[in-house]
Amino acid sequence: MKYHGGLTKRGELDFSSNINPLAPPGFVTRLIKECEYSTYPDYTYADLRSAIAAFNGVGDGEVTPVNGASEGLYASLMVARLLGMRRCLIVSPNYGDLEFEEYCRLIGLRVTHHLMPHGDSSYVLGDVKAQRDDVVLLSNPSNPTGALHGRGELINVINDAGLVIIDEAYINLSVNPSMSLMGSGYSNLIVVRSLTKEIGLPGLRIGYVYTPNAQVMELMRTVLPSWNVNSCADKVARGVYGEYSGEYVSFLEESRREVSRFRSFLVNGLIELGFKVYESTVNFVLAEAPIESSKLYESLLNKGIVVRIPKGFMGLGGKHVRIAVRGINDEERLIEEVKRILNGA
Ligand SMILES: Cc1ncc(COP(=O)(O)O)c(C=O)c1O
Repeated sequence: MKYHGGLTKRGELDFSSNINPLAPPGFVTRLIKECEYSTYPDYTYADLRSAIAAFNGVGDGEVTPVNGASEGLYASLMVARLLGMRRCLIVSPNYGDLEFEEYCRLIGLRVTHHLMPHGDSSYVLGDVKAQRDDVVLLSNPSNPTGALHGRGELINVINDAGLVIIDEAYINLSVNPSMSLMGSGYSNLIVVRSLTKEIGLPGLRIGYVYTPNAQVMELMRTVLPSWNVNSCADKVARGVYGEYSGEYVSFLEESRREVSRFRSFLVNGLIELGFKVYESTVNFVLAEAPIESSKLYESLLNKGIVVRIPKGFMGLGGKHVRIAVRGINDEERLIEEVKRILNGA
């Protein structure tokens, strides 16, 4: 059971797939134009690993590139199973809740969901009761809630669990990337990162995993197929983390500033229309609509606008909707259309 946003047709306004509204940066577009596919990529990805490691201040042996965060998450769960974990504790609602549950069961991991507590305004991590033979899977910032968990809270989980997989696909677009556990050195930690959202190219498929644990990394590389990252993704990522790393850092800083501005505009507009909006730290917001979200979804789709209803997420109800931050013009159009729908026009 796989449910994702982003299944939009040409010309539709996509508020469903959480892409950085400033993406792609010019140097990435230029790198892509130079891509060619006549040879295999270097299957050791030595240069790419060095570039990723240098950018993050970790050792070359502590990172490995993957075909998007998605592949990194699947491989990490398989590694957890191979290490003898018995249960997967998913902090929910979470990206891929049901699909990871299905995969865990298939490979012999029991699944429990820890539902994050929430008040009227925000979600928090809560008391994750992890045990030694558990692998804990969570996203930080959390998709779909937009909450950013503090390092201290996460370290408590790491201290209790057998293995912790933290999906940081959005951390560089969040208000505080220093909440990352990249480079933190915990031997039972895997951090999964992605360029997808940051550079706005979901079709390129590039991310990486970090773990300081040599045994975990060895298993990870055994589980991953050879040439899992295509030549173009390899080239672009080497450019982003190498030659253009200075430009990339500035691009991310500007992205965070603009995401905050656009998010405030979106949140204010939705609140004025009677939505309950949960506090978000990142480039999407979780809200509860004044009408059923399936009705809102269908009505917006008729106008060529796509939002994400909570299919595939645990613990969300019939009024929840997740909306990406896209920039003032697009958000104005969304808000106008929602207003018309609510007024029955
Ligand atoms: C939290 C989270 N993790 C991972 C992914 C998948 O990222 P990628 O395209 O890098 O596989 C997504 C995509 O929506 C996501 O929201």
